[in-house]
Amino acid sequence: MLIAGNWKMFRGPDPAALVGLDAVICPSYTRLRDCVEAGLTTFAQNVHWEWEGAYTGEIAAPLLLELGVVGSLVGHSERRQYFGETDETVAKRVRAALDAGLRVIACVGETQHEREGGETEEVLRRQLAVLEPHPELVLAYEPVWAIGTGRTATPEMAQEAHAFIKSQLDAPVLYGGSVKPDNAAALLSQPDVDGALVGGASLEAGSLKAICETAARIPS
Ligand code: 13P
Repeated sequence: MLIAGNWKMFRGPDPAALVGLDAVICPSYTRLRDCVEAGLTTFAQNVHWEWEGAYTGEIAAPLLLELGVVGSLVGHSERRQYFGETDETVAKRVRAALDAGLRVIACVGETQHEREGGETEEVLRRQLAVLEPHPELVLAYEPVWAIGTGRTATPEMAQEAHAFIKSQLDAPVLYGGSVKPDNAAALLSQPDVDGALVGGASLEAGSLKAICETAARIPS
């Protein structure tokens, strides 16, 4: 069971409050060093496919590794929605990051419009088709309509999507989208839910810890 906290473009809690926590933390770039120095398993929120180069505003895998960062999110829906991330650029980032020795959490998920149009499986199939299994690759199913909205997928919806994802690509699958201490147990108890990617609730040390404690009680 893997719990990852995505702090997005928020400052997040004091890393000292999380020392010893069995979780991956994905802070803003300026807080990576603090998280590494606190001994936390620290991931970036994005990584470029080139080792170095003239790519203003991007970050390269070797620079992350030099800092002690051990992995990265790739293809979060906010990157796809607001920053022109495509399935092709996701594939390039994932491949380069894994080749460099980073762990990767690659995010997939459908929008509200796609779900209502009955396109969920088609969207997931397309997003997954560009990826290949790798021992250090974890997927996150994050239905876009459940992110930051307080509208979580039901445990049954999450299970159905996770089973489909695993039929397409053999990798552990985290659920993300309004995971909170009070709904974590039901979601994490589903057989194909292998952990959670937590946004808002990871910004408060107490609620992230509560979710990790719930995860630790669920037999894998
Ligand atoms: P929330 O938990 O705030 O819905 O965010 C989910 C998410 O996008 C994690 O990457």
